[in-house]
Amino acid sequence: MKAKILVTGGLGFIGSHTVVALQERGFEVVIIDDLSNSSLDVLGGITKITKTTPEFEHLDLRNKEKVAEFFVKYPDINGIIHFAASKAVGESVENPLLYYENNLNTLIYLLQHLREQKNPRFIFSSSCTVYGQADELPITESAPIKKAESPYGNTKQIGEEIIQDTCKAHPEFQAISLRYFNPIGSHPSAHIGELPIGTPQNLVPFITQTAIGKRKELAVFGNDYPTPDGTCIRDYIHVMDLAQAHVVALERLFGKREGPNYEVFNLGTGKGNSVLEVIQAFEKVSGEKLPYRIAARREGDVVAAYADTTKANEELGWRAQYSLEEALDSAWKWQQRIGR
Ligand code: UFG
Repeated sequence: MKAKILVTGGLGFIGSHTVVALQERGFEVVIIDDLSNSSLDVLGGITKITKTTPEFEHLDLRNKEKVAEFFVKYPDINGIIHFAASKAVGESVENPLLYYENNLNTLIYLLQHLREQKNPRFIFSSSCTVYGQADELPITESAPIKKAESPYGNTKQIGEEIIQDTCKAHPEFQAISLRYFNPIGSHPSAHIGELPIGTPQNLVPFITQTAIGKRKELAVFGNDYPTPDGTCIRDYIHVMDLAQAHVVALERLFGKREGPNYEVFNLGTGKGNSVLEVIQAFEKVSGEKLPYRIAARREGDVVAAYADTTKANEELGWRAQYSLEEALDSAWKWQQRIGR
């Protein structure tokens, strides 16, 4: 029998790539998505790549009764990967209650149902945002958690604590939080990719939309940071690598017999690149000249963040395979496919 995995937010950016990787690995997938930041077309993209259409339930996880009905309909779920969440930092500052409701109530409802299962396995989408500006680089999992810069970041910190407490109280639970650094890129087939709503807040979708002519120019937020070229440094990781890491983490939960029942892993490449380096790499792979100007710093940005990936390398046996250039090339192919 194939294991059946619930992927919440499975039509979103990282979720959809993970669904592909899971199906290719032989898992059966049920997706829950409320389509608030995704589209049903993604289901078609997943089907094109894997020749399999995952089961799909259009459901808002804040609706506790509907969540209960879901678990009655699908009593045979063997694990949950929980991507569904709101993720716009600025929006979370303006509407914190929406973020706490969307990102925490939903997590609690899922964990409550998971408790009733024989082998509760859970993977949580966390973020390097929990480290804030780390005192030491690269950042290891034992770096202190800094006070969150935004309600969004706080939901990731609190989310991790909720899972940790649950695992402590219920030893039969097996859970992993994955702290993503900066996910970029798309499936090489360009059948699925990132679909930002409105003006992109993140660097790479803004770059590709500018290159295709949808935006006039990229604003580089600050060039007076204490870094070699003055722009901020991040660890950009290909979404294909992230997707693979979820499969490996899930298989770890299936194989687990001993050791701690709650673990945390950084998912990054281990390499930091500045904003200007990303622009240069993009120009190289795309052959396009990117219009940009230097603008003021953006509030809340940390100077530099990149992962120490030793723990994921050694304990998950996972490491990022794709280069920054490959990730940018795939993002550009995707943008060209969807157009302006
Ligand atoms: N940047 C620009 N211009 C833009 C967009 C971004 O110069 O138009 C710069 C930012 O200042 C930053 C870098 O590009 O230096 C990366 O910015 P992103 O917004 O792509 O990514 P962040 O590192 O800011 O965001 C990530 C995650 C969030 C998380 C946040 C917390 O995407 O989910 O870290 O710091 F909340």
